[in-house]
Order: sequence, then C-alpha cells, then structure tokens
Amino acid sequence: MNNRANLRETSAVGPDPVAVVPRLLGWYDRHARVLPWRAPPGTAPMDPYRVWLSEVMLQQTTVAAVRAYFERFTTLWPTVQALATAEETQVMGEWAGLGYYARARNLLACARQVAAMGGFPDTRQALAQLPGIGPYTSAAIAAIAFDRAETVVDGNVERVVARLFAVDTPMPAAKPQLVALAATLTPDRRPGDFAQAMMDLGATICTPRNPACALCPLNDLCRARTLGLAAELPRKSPKPPRPQRRGTAWLALDASHVLVERRPAKGLLGGTLAFPSTGWDGSEHPAPAAGPWQELGEVRHIFTHFELHLTVLAGPPQGVSRGLLLPRRDFDPATLPGLMRKVWALAP
Ligand code: ADE
Repeated sequence: MNNRANLRETSAVGPDPVAVVPRLLGWYDRHARVLPWRAPPGTAPMDPYRVWLSEVMLQQTTVAAVRAYFERFTTLWPTVQALATAEETQVMGEWAGLGYYARARNLLACARQVAAMGGFPDTRQALAQLPGIGPYTSAAIAAIAFDRAETVVDGNVERVVARLFAVDTPMPAAKPQLVALAATLTPDRRPGDFAQAMMDLGATICTPRNPACALCPLNDLCRARTLGLAAELPRKSPKPPRPQRRGTAWLALDASHVLVERRPAKGLLGGTLAFPSTGWDGSEHPAPAAGPWQELGEVRHIFTHFELHLTVLAGPPQGVSRGLLLPRRDFDPATLPGLMRKVWALAP
C-alpha cells in the first residue's frame, strides 16, 4: 500500500505523534486490560504462539468470548509443536462455536508449517507468508510478539484514528487512509504496547456509541472531539441489505442414533460436523432418510453475505442414503458449529 499517496489524499489534520505516544502509553501502563495472552505493559513479550493463537481467535469474536477458547487450546496444546501434531477433527471440534471454520484448518496448517520451520519467523513479511495470516495478523504478531514497529489496524483502531484525525470519508472507503494515518503514530519503542493500547482505548473508551471522551487520555488532542463529531465518526456507507436464503435440515434420530455428516472441506462451514441439509442456495436435495418427516420449526443464522432460514424436519433414521449414523453416546453437540447447535436445540 502506498501510504504517502494515501496521506496526501486526506485533508485531515492530525495530532502530533510526539504528544500522542507518551500519553497513550502512560494510560496503558495504568489501565491495560489483563488478558491471558498479554504480557503486562512494559515487560517482555508473550511467546509468539500465544500471540498468534489469540489474534486468530480474536478475528472472529470478542475478547470475552475468546478467553475460554484460548485457555482450552493452550491447555490441550501448550506449544505450536503440540498443536502441529493434533488431529484436524479435534481442532475443528474445539474451534466449534468460533465461526469461520476455514480459519481452524488454516490454524493447523500454519502450526505444522511453523513447527517444521523450528518456530515463528519474526518479521511481518515472513509471517504474512504463513497460512491464514493476513495483513492484520502479520502486523499484530510482528509488533506484539517481536517488538517490530508495525502498524496494527483493526476495527477499534480504525475508529480511534478516524476520530483523532476527524476523517470524514465513510467506511470502508476510508480504510487505506486510516492505515496511513495510523502509521504516522506508530512508535519505534514499545510498538506492541502501543498497538494494544490503541485497541484497548477503542474497546473501553473510544467506543462506537457514547464514547467516554471525558476519560480519554487523548481528548485534548482529538480533532473529532474539538469539532463535536466524536460519536459520529467513522461515517459508514449504507450497506445493502443481506440477501435471505432458505433451506431444509433433517434431524434423523431415535433414542440410540443420530444422523450427521462432515461438510465438504471447501465452502460454508467447511469441514465441520453437521446435520444433513439442502444446499443453502435454494437448490433441491433429496431427504437423507426415508421419513416420514415432521416439521419442528425454523432456525435463522446470519452469515457474512446472507441470512439463512433453515426449516428443521425430524424423522426416524431408517432408509439412510447419506451421512453417518452416530451412536448418541458418541455425539457431542458442543462440537457443532453455531448454526447446527440451533438446529439441535429443536430436537425432540
Ligand atoms: N483485539 C485483537 N487483538 C487484541 C489484543 N492483542 N489486545 C486487545 N484487543 C485485541
């Protein structure tokens, strides 16, 4: 990305990094959230395995939701070498509920590559070559685990920067500009603490609605605050509504067995355990067993690009034509992805 060109495009006038950096680091020294994957402010970084694992998990969901998954993964697999030897189905099962299941497979592919290399590389460029590590994650690991002066921009940081510099361009068009502006602030000393301080500020003070400007260590440096615009930025382009799609899921079960199948590796919920269903694009599919079927209700699930409504039918597991009849004692609904847990919740 050409940061200079992006900077020239912006009319934003921003705060002086010489003022921002010590103010923000001082605030972080006092208020950093205590997180299991985080070294205390000003101390040596946490090991790169934990930084990587937490950053990949945090791409899906909130800090609160990630805690339990992080503890479980690091208990089962305390090192990247340990994770590299795991079975894919076990990793998928432990990931269940976090969403974006391609990430779980990339996680394992990445662990295996890193273990084979003898450890994580320590530059952003080399990290970005690994499976599942994009621009955000490579910058985050380089800064947080290796003290590299990389600029880490997630949604929280975008908001903080849009406000500090009063960027009026709507999202997502403003992204390159926000990255360029964030880069003007990145310090050579304590870049990992700085990145996490920006994230914490965005998560706890510079929040989307009702930002707590009175508590903000940067309030007198913030352009949006001066202009009375803090709560309005970043602006958003109106989103087109999510398309709605429908399908059917079949719960073929009796007191002893339940019919499940592993979804194809490629595509939505790839590689996860599921109940047989139609395609989610309106395509017809024959029922996976002979029936008769009784309608239990409907579940709704939001994917990034569409909203899915699945009609759930229940029937006996006889005349089965696809999937795997699992003894119920071997069936653990906790290993299902969220959508399929909703289906299971309707089971008689
Ligand atoms: N969100 C993503 N990574 C984070 C981190 N290291 N600290 C706080 N919030 C985060």
